[in-house]
Amino acid sequence: MIFIHNRPFIPYIEANAIQEAVLRIASQISKDYADEAPVLLGVLNGAFMFLSDLAKKIDLPVDISFMKVASYSGVSSTGQVKMHLGVSDEIRDRHVIIVEDIVDTGRSMAVVQNLVQEKKPKSIAVAALLHKPDALVEELDIKYLGFSIADKFVVGYGLDFDGIGRNLPEIFQLKD
Ligand code: IMP
Ligand code: MG
Repeated sequence: MIFIHNRPFIPYIEANAIQEAVLRIASQISKDYADEAPVLLGVLNGAFMFLSDLAKKIDLPVDISFMKVASYSGVSSTGQVKMHLGVSDEIRDRHVIIVEDIVDTGRSMAVVQNLVQEKKPKSIAVAALLHKPDALVEELDIKYLGFSIADKFVVGYGLDFDGIGRNLPEIFQLKD
């Protein structure tokens, strides 16, 4: 068990299992986009580690770009999604793969998909390491998914609890 901001977290998904999921997704993407050069569009800050590992395992010439939205405060979603860094015009007519750490309510991803669509890409797909199906309020198609998880707060591998925990190589779950 570890403590972050005085709250207890238990080990949940170990580093090996994460890397296996990343490799599985990277292989799928390499196959699905054979002979293409997709853009990996990471949603900051949470997706930085997943995107970095994923990009290294994709056997294609990929472009890498980032955007930034935020909706979380502490351990729960505020329901309001704010844009902090916009989408590059360079994704026009490109195959875009939006890379997210986690889809929780799906509100951020709905906003992200609209912002990406406005730039007129050739196609849009979503890759998310984690998904909480019980928290979902927006209908979404996650083409590439690492793990479906329980509706409990998690940290590590890019995910933070009020700024802490992003650099942990494995994922921890809040103990209730
Ligand atoms: P959504 O808009 O509710 O789907 O929330 C998505 C964003 O909230 C994610 O991209 C994360 O940055 C953050 N988030 C959602 N669930 C968690 C969690 O369990 N731990 C840390 N951050 C989370
Ligand atoms: Mg995120």
